[in-house]
Amino acid sequence: MAVTAPCATCWLDGAFRPLADARISPLDRGFLFGDAVYEVLPCHGGRPFLFHPHLARLERSLREIGLEPPLTRQRWAEVLRGLVAHNQLQDATLYLQVSRGAEWGRNHAPPAQPVPTVFAYATPLPPIDPQQLTEGVSVSTYPDERWARCDIKSTSLLSNVLAKGRAQAAGSFEAILVADGLLREGSSTTVMIVRDGVIVAPPDSPHLLPGTTRDFLFALAGAAGIRVERRDIPLTELLAADEILLAFATRGALPVTQLDGRPVGSDLAAGRPGPVWQRLNNAFHARIKAWANTPFDAP
Ligand SMILES: Cc1ncc(COP(=O)(O)O)c(C=O)c1O
Repeated sequence: MAVTAPCATCWLDGAFRPLADARISPLDRGFLFGDAVYEVLPCHGGRPFLFHPHLARLERSLREIGLEPPLTRQRWAEVLRGLVAHNQLQDATLYLQVSRGAEWGRNHAPPAQPVPTVFAYATPLPPIDPQQLTEGVSVSTYPDERWARCDIKSTSLLSNVLAKGRAQAAGSFEAILVADGLLREGSSTTVMIVRDGVIVAPPDSPHLLPGTTRDFLFALAGAAGIRVERRDIPLTELLAADEILLAFATRGALPVTQLDGRPVGSDLAAGRPGPVWQRLNNAFHARIKAWANTPFDAP
């Protein structure tokens, strides 16, 4: 996805301020150790989308690294409302990050009484490239070299960054990570397959991030009478899938039409976005449209 310039006003440690003037200490543990967690949620038609699932995941990440939530959901909602208002946002990406804060010196052991650094900013969301919808995207598989707690949405993303870089150098949109012969997820996406009309995604585990978009798409699929399953997906099954979908907050679902240089699917439909993706995508965008510009009264 093209890099887009961020919006002028951010929120840092309790105040809205120009992003260009925002400063964080070089001794911040987020910078020194990657000792931080984050969330990314979309805003559609001026309304933060799936606020509670994203905030629930942030609270879970914080719990797992032993940090108290620095803000209540009500306060987060005010911060997001403020970002939307200050930057006059319609469609945007909202980014929230909490680090364990700065200390006077470098010490691996977490401080007993951390003062978290809390940061939020927004970026306008570019419209979806229509070619990605008509032709789909290509992906490449790589070994999953990440740590054993990928269920925590940590800013320690070096392996993800390197995998995405390798994929892009190979002309692919996304890196699909595989370990022990099983599909895990993309470098920044949930990966789902379709077999015989059933959508399948790997189950939650420490090896992957519980996707908010995945869960929402599963709910839409259920409402549309499409069966869903959560189970391990061997690499052989990924290679034989009728359809492959990438799910992530800023785009919903994108169809994958090339896997490691080979067309996804079989027969005449091979290498084309599939019918299950099409139905899900229609349902997803109908929901965005229905919710856009409705009051954001969370919590
Ligand atoms: C590693 C990883 N997996 C999956 C996802 C998809 O999560 P969501 O649907 O909440 O965007 C992301 C999103 O950032 C991610 O970074």
